[in-house]
Amino acid sequence: MARIVNLGVLVSGSGSNLQSIIDNIERGTLPAQIRIIVSNNPGAFALERAKKHGIPTAVIEHAGFASREDYDRKLVDTLMDNGVELVVLAGFMRVLSPFFLRSFPARVMNIHPALLPSFPGTHGQKQAFDYGVKFSGCTVHFADEGVDTGPIIIQAVVPVCDTDTEETLSQRILKEEHRIYPQAIRLYAEGKLRVEGRKVRVLDHPQPEGSPRHNPPVTNF
Ligand code: GAR
Repeated sequence: MARIVNLGVLVSGSGSNLQSIIDNIERGTLPAQIRIIVSNNPGAFALERAKKHGIPTAVIEHAGFASREDYDRKLVDTLMDNGVELVVLAGFMRVLSPFFLRSFPARVMNIHPALLPSFPGTHGQKQAFDYGVKFSGCTVHFADEGVDTGPIIIQAVVPVCDTDTEETLSQRILKEEHRIYPQAIRLYAEGKLRVEGRKVRVLDHPQPEGSPRHNPPVTNF
């Protein structure tokens, strides 16, 4: 039986990943509670979503803080004051300091819209689209001190089609983000994630099925 995990969700923008987490919690498919949603952007639509679901929010803008670490101290205090165990980065567009990461060891998750370690940083979907890869996808990983370099928990693969635009590819990826992020948090809540160096082992869980995929498909010749 999974325990209820106290989440702090950090956002900067639309918050569609936040929404998928809220929906899973409300549906009873994610044993978690969002204690606080923190945005660095007062105009983030994610804050409207929070309000609609009666979830407490805090806006912490970077202006007024002398350094990244000062800002992160305020973030850490806010999360700790609200009893947060697992920090969930859901489109939070700031790099976290070592101080922040040390405050929540192996307890910060991030989602990235590409198959890491390819295309880290900003605009992962555009980077993959412009590069011309035939598959892309998304990755949930534990955050470490690098940019999108931490141990990988779960990935989803999507094909890139000749007819795609950056927008259609981004939408296809986002749909999978909304599936894998709640799944990663659920696995954490169930105590099934073991971080062993760079690798995350998922205990007591089915292994992937299916055959290799090709894009374009390999036809008989
Ligand atoms: C998502 O695509 C997420 O993967 C990405 O920002 C978007 C946020 O969307 N994150 C990054 O690029 C982090 N490097 P959302 O606000 O609708 O969840």
